[in-house]
Amino acid sequence: MRALSFCIAVLLAGCVSNPSSAPPPVSLEGQRTWYGAIGPLVGQRCALCHRPGEIGPFPLETYEQVKANAALVRSAVESKYMPPFPPEQSEESGCPQIDDGRKMSDAERAFLIAWIDEGTPEGEKRELPRPQPAAPLGAPSDQWPMPEAYTTKGIGDEYRCVLLEPKHVAALPVAAISVVPGNRAIVHHSAIYLIPSDQLDAVRKLDRDAEGVGFDCFGGVGVERAYPAGLWVPGNDAPLVPPRGSVGYYLPVGWGIVIQQHYFSTNEQQDKSSVALWRGGFVFPEVPYAGVFGDMNFSLPPRAKTTIETSTVVRPADSPYALFNEANAGNVYAVWAHMHLRGQAMEMDVIKPDGSEQCLLRIPRWDFHWQSIYRLAKPVKVNAGETIRVRCHFDNVSNETIVFGENTSDEMCFATISMTGN
Ligand code: HEC
Repeated sequence: MRALSFCIAVLLAGCVSNPSSAPPPVSLEGQRTWYGAIGPLVGQRCALCHRPGEIGPFPLETYEQVKANAALVRSAVESKYMPPFPPEQSEESGCPQIDDGRKMSDAERAFLIAWIDEGTPEGEKRELPRPQPAAPLGAPSDQWPMPEAYTTKGIGDEYRCVLLEPKHVAALPVAAISVVPGNRAIVHHSAIYLIPSDQLDAVRKLDRDAEGVGFDCFGGVGVERAYPAGLWVPGNDAPLVPPRGSVGYYLPVGWGIVIQQHYFSTNEQQDKSSVALWRGGFVFPEVPYAGVFGDMNFSLPPRAKTTIETSTVVRPADSPYALFNEANAGNVYAVWAHMHLRGQAMEMDVIKPDGSEQCLLRIPRWDFHWQSIYRLAKPVKVNAGETIRVRCHFDNVSNETIVFGENTSDEMCFATISMTGN
């Protein structure tokens, strides 16, 4: 019976037997020429961002464009500045491998660098394959656009929250939720928050009190309760795919959705993004649960480097609900870290009773602009009695004390895990 209900749930979730948002493999077997293996490699690893209408500052689609930028490309690839993907993934680190469309392997880097060092040979002309964005769950089942386009002020970074009210009449079974950006050249990331019905009036008021669609917001929505449910970043269109088709949750009737848009624009531009939802089965045998760790009561003294650390002992999985700084035993399938602009580095590790450590997530050079929810290629088990330790490293170079808060001038230190019970 259990096997049967699992099959049905998998079917309804779209027949995803091994969903993955990992980059599609690029073959390095062909000749080391542009029209051999290099064009498809650069297409898949670079041109998804570096083409007109996307966030990359110049196109890297054609032989001429890549050749003209060869020296820049070489140094960006060698230093691992590009493609932008901050988590530590070296084998020595012991950190779990992350399943993400923006990753480039060391073999691919070496191959591209060798081609540049050989003088960028062109090879024999042929039609090259179009780069394919990862779409592990296929097309979304529902899409809700922003009520109106937002016009950016063209002042660089802007953070705008927009309320969407889907008005669904029955609870929606959610396998995954993400954003389909409207103007991909200016959306630097989008965070999705689910808004309980009793918080909607507070959000509507923020919206009414601000001019234009939505309202300014930075570290959160600005209401008492809002649940982070997804993040979209350029270069990886795949939503956070659950570990199995049987895993999902419900969006209750009467709830709303806020998308928090981080825009970067140097002139006025319009964006009308949509929330995308992938429905799962009518009944989910497994509802994932989350652990949120951090400190909401810290301050960073002026002109000093400070590390904020929390340690949480994992308890037996007798209740799937964990409050802030509580953790249950289970299998971690996704991790996220959050700080603002003064963050330097962050680490989340599991400390075993014998003192040994297992890395869950390590970001050696924190970059607010490239944060993401990271899906682990293989879940990591955490057991009762182990400790989850989170460290946020900050550098406050200002003359002011910085405190915890939602504004750009404040700081945050959070890490989250998404998990299933077995
Ligand atoms: C996820 C989107 C994305 C991908 C994938 C990506 N880039 Fe970029 N790239 C950017 C953005 C955005 C910038 C502008 C600088 C920034 O925001 O960090 C940039 C900047 C650059 C620069 C300028 C660096 C400098 O010194 O100013 C080079 C060169 C570059 N990219 C090359 C590449 C190459 C080569 C690849 C593939 C191996 C690649 N990029 C993949 C988004 C991307």
